[in-house]
Amino acid sequence: MSSSQPTPPPAPARYTVVARLLHWTMAVMVIAILFIGVFMVTSVADFNFLVTVHEPLGIAILIFVLVRIGWRRTHVPPPFPPGMGPLDRLAAIYSEKLLYALLLCQPLIGWAMVSASGQPIILFGSLHLPAIAPQNATLFANLLRAHIVAAYLLYLTFAAHLAGVLLHTIVIRDKVLDRMAFWSTPRSSRAAVQAERPVPSSRNSVDS
Ligand code: HEM
Repeated sequence: MSSSQPTPPPAPARYTVVARLLHWTMAVMVIAILFIGVFMVTSVADFNFLVTVHEPLGIAILIFVLVRIGWRRTHVPPPFPPGMGPLDRLAAIYSEKLLYALLLCQPLIGWAMVSASGQPIILFGSLHLPAIAPQNATLFANLLRAHIVAAYLLYLTFAAHLAGVLLHTIVIRDKVLDRMAFWSTPRSSRAAVQAERPVPSSRNSVDS
């Protein structure tokens, strides 16, 4: 009787089309909502109009992030490029987790904040969301502070994520972006040599 285990299917080279569509749609939505948030609080005249865009967009981000987390938990992500060092892998893994956490918490904080202010959360026309926090001025002030802090954290994490991707795509050229892209990027000769080396068994392996 043979004791050999069935070999697991090879890890995909790219994220699934659904994961890539979710990623790029969310990237556009998050950049838009961060800008709208800033314009909202700096332009008093347009506040009322911008808030009617900001709130449904924030709720859409909440729905997208929940779908994305579900998709991520049920689909194997592609491995990192073989030449990517352990520190880079740790930075990528934890900045990604932080982005997911912030994109999950920030809309909930916004929703609770508007609930605490006593205002309705209008999605479209007469479609309102229920309040998820009691109407209370102190709670509103604290949630507003939390919404601002989370927005700054989101700017920083997003900037770090973008800087890492640009470094790998323009300087190291190890094709890390290809895993999430619908197109192909050039590879440096050094990265091409490293790509020939065996791939670590786990994506999360940081000791290779
Ligand atoms: C990922 C989702 C979200 C992001 C990134 C985001 C980001 C922001 C930013 C950057 C500001 C300006 C903060 C400042 O500098 O004062 C802001 C303000 C605001 N956000 Fe959000 N937000 C999100 C979701 C939501 C949701 C879901 C709601 C409500 C349902 C909401 C309601 C508001 C309101 C009412 C303000 C104005 C607060 C005030 O100054 O009175 N946000 N948001």
